Amino acid sequence: MCGIIARIGHGNAADTLITGLENLEYRGYDSAGIAVQNGSGVKVHKCSGEVSRLKSSLDGQPHGNMGIGHTRWSTHGPPTDENAHPHTDTAGDVAVVHNGVIDNYDELKAELRAKGHEFESDTDSEVIPHLIDEYREETGDTEQAVRRAVDTLEGSYAIAAIVDGEEAVYAARKGSPLVLGLDDEEWYLASDVPAFLEHTDEVIYLEDGDIVVLDPDTYQITDLDGTPIERSVDTVDWDPEDAGKGEYDHYMLKEINNQPTSLANTIEGRIKDGDVAFESLPPGSFDDIDTVQFVACGTSYHAAMYGAQLVREAGLRTEVLRASEYESTSGPVDENTLVIAVTQSGETADTLDAVRKATECGARSLAVTNVVGSTAAREADDAIYIRAGPEVGVAATKTYSSQAVTLALLTQRIAADVPEGTPADDRGEMLEALEDLPKHVETVLETSRAEALARDVFGSKSYFFIGHGLGHSVALEGALKFKEITYEHAEGFAAGELKHGPLALVTEETPVFAVSTGSDSDSKTKTNAIEAQSRGAPIVAVGPDDQSLVDVADDHLSVPDTHPVWAGLLANVQLQLLSYYAARQLDRPIDKPRNLAKSVTVE
Ligand code: F6R
Repeated sequence: MCGIIARIGHGNAADTLITGLENLEYRGYDSAGIAVQNGSGVKVHKCSGEVSRLKSSLDGQPHGNMGIGHTRWSTHGPPTDENAHPHTDTAGDVAVVHNGVIDNYDELKAELRAKGHEFESDTDSEVIPHLIDEYREETGDTEQAVRRAVDTLEGSYAIAAIVDGEEAVYAARKGSPLVLGLDDEEWYLASDVPAFLEHTDEVIYLEDGDIVVLDPDTYQITDLDGTPIERSVDTVDWDPEDAGKGEYDHYMLKEINNQPTSLANTIEGRIKDGDVAFESLPPGSFDDIDTVQFVACGTSYHAAMYGAQLVREAGLRTEVLRASEYESTSGPVDENTLVIAVTQSGETADTLDAVRKATECGARSLAVTNVVGSTAAREADDAIYIRAGPEVGVAATKTYSSQAVTLALLTQRIAADVPEGTPADDRGEMLEALEDLPKHVETVLETSRAEALARDVFGSKSYFFIGHGLGHSVALEGALKFKEITYEHAEGFAAGELKHGPLALVTEETPVFAVSTGSDSDSKTKTNAIEAQSRGAPIVAVGPDDQSLVDVADDHLSVPDTHPVWAGLLANVQLQLLSYYAARQLDRPIDKPRNLAKSVTVE
């Protein structure tokens, strides 16, 4: 949610800043801007709209070896030119980009106005350059001024600042991600690694309270009091190719097609001698756990539902909770509760907040995330990585599949440890079938009829997705993806719920996608699908061939026969393709759906 980048080195900064913003655009795309320092003042270029608009509005190449950039997802104030970042102080000497929310900006703005500062935007962020300017006047030292400014701010921030006439970038973080990239000749700061991955894979994940000063030759990390801090340098194992679109028209299609590889990475090394092995969680890791709570949002919530169903089947007490509702829905939590935070980005504010609340009550936390060094990974007691590689399309696809597989494996690990747990009877079969999952996804990708079907159902009034058991979570995910990128009305239901209300909406203009997994519970889905069919709805069966639902359905999106635990994930790949091709027909901005951003770092 908002992406920031900064760069300092010996060559020109503008190109790198623009490419970095393009790679960060999944974090927001309402407006964009850069500021560069070129020895004759700080030059700011910014406008509403996407980074491409900013790029084409640049009149020649702005010169300067250091600069900052921002791509915005609006929180305070509409996406106008004035509200775009970077913001400056009244004289235009200090330029700042900010990701986060400043809670006390109203009172700070009033105080600064009373001292003569003039504001141009509606944003909370604009107080930051004015504060730095004010404290520079008082202390005569920019670094001191940055420290005092961040100490005055309440809320969350990752900021980067440049100042007229100074060969330095100043930065700080609290509650919003910031990572330092170390190249031979230049330093980078960004909200996320893909911003600079093509230049370097050597990174330092900054922590809350860190203040950073970069000059062309050195970097220094200190705490708020100025005490130097040593942070370890990590090497990111993502391929720069993964961060680009390659031969595909959209990141989403690339990421859907990447699933055979991303799933193979998720599974690799985690099945040993017919058992599940997580390096960081040896046998015995969960023997004092009696309850498992999952917390997550959006697509990750649907993956969590998948995991919770399997934990329940393994005989453990479990709940799956929407992170944003955690406080009002969580049952009692204690040291025997394992809270599993499922979050691709590891930065979702609602999820982090839920974990913090559970931790305060003594619960043990485990982050299941894609991003090494993310806040969830650092704050939770333990972390396991889904290893899906970078996902840029705002609509989550490959990370959902990798989350569900990781959770299914984790369930087996937990069930083996917990006294009440009973690992699945057919565990051997299930794990064997998992080894074939990447190959089965490939089959779906090669044979899918989703594109043709998307044409057939085009122009319907509404799209319903139903399923039972594991199929229920897949139906919810199918509907979320469909509405998110097509802007058409779509709803997912537990199949049995149709007759308790939603059936009133069913006509020949509401195609119903019925998800099956090849398990016993499919018969319920079939009954409910037939009820919708008798009210005129076209039925599309989504699942394995060998089931009676296929016989009654009007159409079929087929998946290879496999263990029921994995069949739902294959059905989901069909639904990902359906959403993609439906959105394509409607000419929607598939990778950047309106009003959304990938990493939602505000509550
Ligand atoms: C939908 C989507 C969102 C995210 C949600 C949680 O396609 O991507 O619903 O799943 O915002 O994000 P993470 O997993 O980063 O916590």
